[in-house]
Amino acid sequence: MRNAECGFFAECGFFADCGLIADCGFIADCGLNPNCGLNPNCGLNPNRGVNAESGREPIRNPQSAIHNQSAIRIPQSAMTTFDLVIVGYGNVARRFVSLLSEQRRTLAHDHGVAARVIATATRRHGYRYGGRKVEASSTLQFLGDALAKSRAAARKGRLVVVETTTLDVLRGQPATSHIRAALAGGAHVITANKGPVAFAYRSLTRAAARAGRQFLFEGAVMDGIPIFNLVRETLPAVTVAGFRGVVNSTTNFILTAMEQGQPFAAALAEMQARGIAEADPSLDVDGWDAAAKTAALANVLLDARITPHEVKRQGLTAETRQLAVAAMAAGRRLKLVARARREGRKVVASVGCEELPAADLLAGVEGHHNALVLETDLLEEIAIVQRGGGLTATAYALVSDLVTIARATAPPRRSARGRRSL
Ligand SMILES: NC(=O)c1ccc[n+]([C@@H]2O[C@H](COP(=O)([O-])OP(=O)(O)OC[C@H]3O[C@@H](n4cnc5c(N)ncnc54)[C@H](OP(=O)(O)O)[C@@H]3O)[C@@H](O)[C@H]2O)c1
Repeated sequence: MRNAECGFFAECGFFADCGLIADCGFIADCGLNPNCGLNPNCGLNPNRGVNAESGREPIRNPQSAIHNQSAIRIPQSAMTTFDLVIVGYGNVARRFVSLLSEQRRTLAHDHGVAARVIATATRRHGYRYGGRKVEASSTLQFLGDALAKSRAAARKGRLVVVETTTLDVLRGQPATSHIRAALAGGAHVITANKGPVAFAYRSLTRAAARAGRQFLFEGAVMDGIPIFNLVRETLPAVTVAGFRGVVNSTTNFILTAMEQGQPFAAALAEMQARGIAEADPSLDVDGWDAAAKTAALANVLLDARITPHEVKRQGLTAETRQLAVAAMAAGRRLKLVARARREGRKVVASVGCEELPAADLLAGVEGHHNALVLETDLLEEIAIVQRGGGLTATAYALVSDLVTIARATAPPRRSARGRRSL
């Protein structure tokens, strides 16, 4: 039976004993159960499929969700199989798990990567290890226990903690502590949570290096746009001197809607329904989310040592609607612009509404799209624009981080199709 209040199946928590979905998870081609959750007309599971409105994934048994290895005919010896401990099992994590399932053949054939979820932690719905509910006094304690039980995988570099808890914009906690504990326990870490990068990038990077593990966070800023990979992998010897961008989808969507005469509240409600607005939407509206992204970008790309508190910040205000409409009438556009630049030994960063000329690349960034312009020493300006974004893009960033870990830790191999993996 489904518990109407929490959305979980009362009998199974996440599942194993639920009976309705136990055999099929969401393996599309399992053929066992036509009501398995991928079928949009499924009458059994009220959380079925991806909700077209919200883009949110239903909560299902992640242990059964990742992949059906019997469908993949490549030697096990050629695969890197990761054990995943997911800390924070909300919208992003659920989409990540379903995307791993959808992409399992490509991941296996082209990258030799497979994964299975061995543990999940949530704040209100508790902790599970190996498909069973377990008790713990805190997430940190649960994580410590899960890491201890997974020592063998950790020793082989096959344990990955996926940190996708809620953003804490004031301190970056408890996510930073989760990541520190994970690295100390021998796990790699991938995260879409910008808090730890905004508050503790340098110390976490050092901890990862000491542990010989990876700390990756491609989904933390601008969903799946490969901004950190772009600079790290493709711009050797280039110095990024600064950047400016539209980095918060929710406020950009609201600004675009308000230019077209829509009320603020309706636009915000749409972003919440799509699962794009932060759990606490004031984090978006007041510019905190953009400030956290600016701090994260500055710390990684400009070698800054700032937190969101050092980013000069102004969000949307009561006057914003009038300013947006007036800018539009004058052939200009009002945008919430994130900026950072090196000034001598310091990095100066800000977030605030700016009226931009129509010809500015950022002026053309509509709706929930994002863009970032990097100022570099050797290549002048490089712009990257994301038309889309959202849960799938963020989940993709986590998948790409997993592949990055596999590439960094596995010897070069030939794929099942005879091509050398990139
Ligand atoms: N949504 C997006 O499009 C997007 C895009 C880029 C980055 N992000 C980032 O990705 C992260 C996750 O976002 P989301 O949309 O998935 O949020 P969400 O749906 O609110 O899920 C957050 C999850 O974290 C759990 N959680 C919170 N505090 C916890 C704790 N102390 N211990 C264990 N679990 C805890 C919550 O548990 P309960 O449900 O039990 O409270 C929930 O399962 C956030 O940091 C967000 O900023 C999101």
